[in-house]
Amino acid sequence: MRLASGLVLFAYVATHLLNHAFGLVSLATAEAARLWFVGFWRSAPIGALLYAAFIVHIALACAALYERRTLRMPKLEWARLLLGLSIPFLLAAHYTGTQIAGELYGQDDPYARVAWSLWSRDRGLMPLLLTVAAWAHGCFGVHLVLRHRPWYRRQFHFVFAAACLLPALGLLGFVAMAREITLRMADPAWYATQIAGVEVVTGMQKAVLDWITDGLYAGFALLLGTLVAARAWRERRERRSGASVELRYPDTVVRVPRGWSVLEASRAHGIPHLSLCGGRARCSTCRVRLEGPADHCPPPSAIEQRTLKRIGAPAGVRLACQLRPTGDLRVTPLLPASGAPAGRQTHFGAVLGEERQLVILFIDLRRWTGLAQQQLPFDLVYVLEQYFEAVGDAVLDAGGVPNQFIGDSVMAIFGLECSQSDACRQALQAARGIATRLDTLGARLLAEFGLTLDFGIGIHAGRAAVGAVGYHDTRTLSAVGDAVNTASRLQELTKALQVRLVISEPVARGAGIATAGLAAQDVRIRGRTGLLRVYAIATPQELHAPVT
Ligand code: FES
Repeated sequence: MRLASGLVLFAYVATHLLNHAFGLVSLATAEAARLWFVGFWRSAPIGALLYAAFIVHIALACAALYERRTLRMPKLEWARLLLGLSIPFLLAAHYTGTQIAGELYGQDDPYARVAWSLWSRDRGLMPLLLTVAAWAHGCFGVHLVLRHRPWYRRQFHFVFAAACLLPALGLLGFVAMAREITLRMADPAWYATQIAGVEVVTGMQKAVLDWITDGLYAGFALLLGTLVAARAWRERRERRSGASVELRYPDTVVRVPRGWSVLEASRAHGIPHLSLCGGRARCSTCRVRLEGPADHCPPPSAIEQRTLKRIGAPAGVRLACQLRPTGDLRVTPLLPASGAPAGRQTHFGAVLGEERQLVILFIDLRRWTGLAQQQLPFDLVYVLEQYFEAVGDAVLDAGGVPNQFIGDSVMAIFGLECSQSDACRQALQAARGIATRLDTLGARLLAEFGLTLDFGIGIHAGRAAVGAVGYHDTRTLSAVGDAVNTASRLQELTKALQVRLVISEPVARGAGIATAGLAAQDVRIRGRTGLLRVYAIATPQELHAPVT
């Protein structure tokens, strides 16, 4: 409900900004668009929906703030919270001057009058602050919800550009209207009909509107004050009663007031604890195994039950973000909170912009689409991260560069800083390392998610151009050319041949491996002339024979 109500408000702000942006065309165009805008948002059902969304959103945000036992949270969430809290205060005067004035006294709010009144008061500073706060709050909220979705990550730059462009156009439209009005003010007839003529609110009515504005300020301040006081009162009561629970983690023991969730306890004590959905029971990455008296764990709520059922959680496993223990417990987080490997870099700057002999490795997960339909999106993100980490580590350990992670595929480059034969050996070593790591990961994912992990790898050696491809700051190292296309086709061939690894003759020759016992065949590769001899290998670990 918080998300749905937030989206309604976000749509309102977006269309409002769009309406302002028409001011860049002309005041008359913006005014014509405003009639559509007002006709839609002030119609009875949509208006009711908008008010309901506003009330529900604020109420749920306050409830969530009260529920939080600790205010430790990521910076982005803090920014979203502070921006959200500032909106009612920035909005109050604008709201009474337009909406309330219209409803109580029948005053219309055409752009000519409203833009001029805002511009002449403070050059539009308040609308600027209000626009930035409301829009940024909405954008942060949407980003926090979508940030782990693969399609969103892929399209992020477009989304980011749109998120910057719309308020910029809206504000420029507002300034353009203010300038147009300033020029037209020289015409007394225009001023009389467009500005002075529509100002129907009397001095007394203005005083009433100011009084309402002050009431709104006071109401919001009271709401916030009550919230802070309620939190303080609860904390004091909990401290006085001495009611606390002891949570025994594998490496440490912490004591927290009763009523805290296990995830809050972890965060408050700096214990690494994975929580991809931010504690909303929408993933299962915070899951913990519990030992202790059953009556120390209140039964799971409906939403927690649903997630536990979906992942087939055994008895004794709960979501740390939802469980608020009433007594001492032993707690074991089940998923490691490790991030991507840090500080591992390669120095390939010297080879950018060259065409050269390289060895390319492609790996792809099998049946990923089917798996993706069965799992929770946040869990998939976690699985993908673990998979990328395993592949990336194996490639780096072998001396290659993992440089493209697309969907469930990874491309790695070998030979940027070594000879072709070394690169071939490195690529085969990476394939063995990947297989070993993914076997270990697969066993874990089978136990944790019921997922069976399988993959196919293709390796080819040939010419390719290396360069920094992308746009502005998003340039990444990439390779293009025959070696890349062929390695990708060999990876696809693993499906047809039902093996995990297919390597080409140049790779086998470069690495100096004995090929006598390998299943060889000559295949035609799309986009290539002639046949290519390839070796199909059931699993990369078969290649542990000493390199000749
Ligand atoms: S953090 Fe996602 S379910 Fe707990």
